[in-house]
Amino acid sequence: MHKARVAIFISGGGTNMAALLYASLMKDSTFEIVLVASNKAEAAGLAIASAEGVKTFVHSHKGHSREDHDAAMEAALVEAKADYLALAGYMRILSDEFVRRWEGRILNIHPSLLPKYKGLETHRRAIEAGDTHAGASVHIVVPELDAGEVLAQARVAICAGETAASLAERVKFAEHQLYPRAVSEYVSRRPAI
Ligand code: GAR
Repeated sequence: MHKARVAIFISGGGTNMAALLYASLMKDSTFEIVLVASNKAEAAGLAIASAEGVKTFVHSHKGHSREDHDAAMEAALVEAKADYLALAGYMRILSDEFVRRWEGRILNIHPSLLPKYKGLETHRRAIEAGDTHAGASVHIVVPELDAGEVLAQARVAICAGETAASLAERVKFAEHQLYPRAVSEYVSRRPAI
């Protein structure tokens, strides 16, 4: 079976990257992880990917224009022959040109029930608004921040006395279920790439 070649960009802990990676290693997975790349050398997820035998790439964004940094990241994608890019806690905004070149092939996971709470501090904002539920969304990346078509969502109840930290931790459990399924469904319905 042809497996879709998926690259992942991370900036931090990489737990969503790990969820995608271990899902990809399950029998009958529709995708494989061909690259884990980061703008931060200290991103913990890089060490995990490397230990699991996945190719890694680091390019610091510091001291580079957005276009130059994106060009280096894109070169790594091309070299890895990636069909798709999954952003997993990649805390950089991609340049419009990059997004347009990869249109329809970049997915992101965002820790809110989009269209609510685009941007940062999503958990604090959901709690302060008195919402009964928070959650996570997987969406297609378009130039406008967190605005592309939502492919899948997971709802997470907000408990009494919840803090942003406790909510973030539990939303991640939901994210780890959601992202591999959403990626698998998406690459399965676009076999032409
Ligand atoms: C995840 O909760 C993800 O939804 C969020 O960062 C976390 C990364 O965690 N992404 C964003 O906020 C993107 N705007 P991880 O490194 O453990 O996967």
